[in-house]
Amino acid sequence: MAIQWFPGHMHLTRKAIEERVREIDVVIELLDARLPASSANPMLAQLTAGKPALKVLNKQDLADPVRTDEWLAHYNALPGTRALGLDASMAAPAKVLVQACYDLAPLRGSMVKPMRVLICGIPNVGKSTLINTLKGKRAAKTGDEAGVTKLEQRIVLADGFYLFDTPGVLWPRIIVAKSGYNLAASGAVGRNAFDDEEVALELLDYLRQHYGKQLEARYQLNDVRNQSDEQLLEAVGRKRGALQSGGRVNRQKAAELVIQDFRAGTLGRITLETPDEFAQWLAQGKQLDAQRQVKKDAIELDRAIRFKRVAR
Ligand code: G4P
Repeated sequence: MAIQWFPGHMHLTRKAIEERVREIDVVIELLDARLPASSANPMLAQLTAGKPALKVLNKQDLADPVRTDEWLAHYNALPGTRALGLDASMAAPAKVLVQACYDLAPLRGSMVKPMRVLICGIPNVGKSTLINTLKGKRAAKTGDEAGVTKLEQRIVLADGFYLFDTPGVLWPRIIVAKSGYNLAASGAVGRNAFDDEEVALELLDYLRQHYGKQLEARYQLNDVRNQSDEQLLEAVGRKRGALQSGGRVNRQKAAELVIQDFRAGTLGRITLETPDEFAQWLAQGKQLDAQRQVKKDAIELDRAIRFKRVAR
């Protein structure tokens, strides 16, 4: 099953970004540190191509610190890009964000040439939490000012430093299947868009291979590496008392428990993808997508030919 979601205010947000982006000096993209590439919006990459980019790996408190370092190094090696890790426990995030933006656009930041920064991120990545911390006492919301779209709000972070907020949206078409599962596991996708059991099985399959010790500790299991995802879901259900009449495991309940434990960090600090893994998934996804497109084109061509025959 592919994860399908309704992308929300995608068209309005796209328009708001398109309108604003020409006069933007730096684009901050908030990513989920547990799934950095899967939580990156491809629509944003397209709209902001060529702009200095600050990748913020948010919720780093929930992510595997070794892998966070790996992702930071990956992004920092890209041209015109800086990356840093963040979480809600950081008392003064404005300082690091402001400094990183000055590093990316050193000529901006005066009253004559203010620094104009766009901040974007998918739902649930922690953007509201961060914006509220950033607002503090000093910042002002000026959303109804002329020229500022209703969809965004402007926050003054320092003298001559303006942050433009955008609504959190997803994109309509997912090419990397694994990204859909990771987004669902993280809580970025609404519940109606996916099947808990399927998402939990994918999650367990990844965890048993990469975070076996955490899985064993949390659910008091042994040798999880040599068990299938199905066996693990059953085992979790039994250990956590997710049972139905007749003593059978309530798989729905067990799936919810696994997903909830991942989201809350109860399983430990976990990251569901590495840069190398994601590159492989993306290559596979693109290949499948190209095959799908070829099939679609063939069907449309066939339809067009038949329609012509009938019309004659
Ligand atoms: P959004 O605007 O991007 O949609 O996200 P929002 O700030 O609403 O945060 C989504 C959830 O993530 C909230 O939890 C929030 O508390 C949590 N969160 C935000 N930043 C961090 C972080 O750095 N680390 C961790 N561990 N969690 C973070 P919630 O359970 O949905 O709501 P609440 O009960 O905490 O209010």
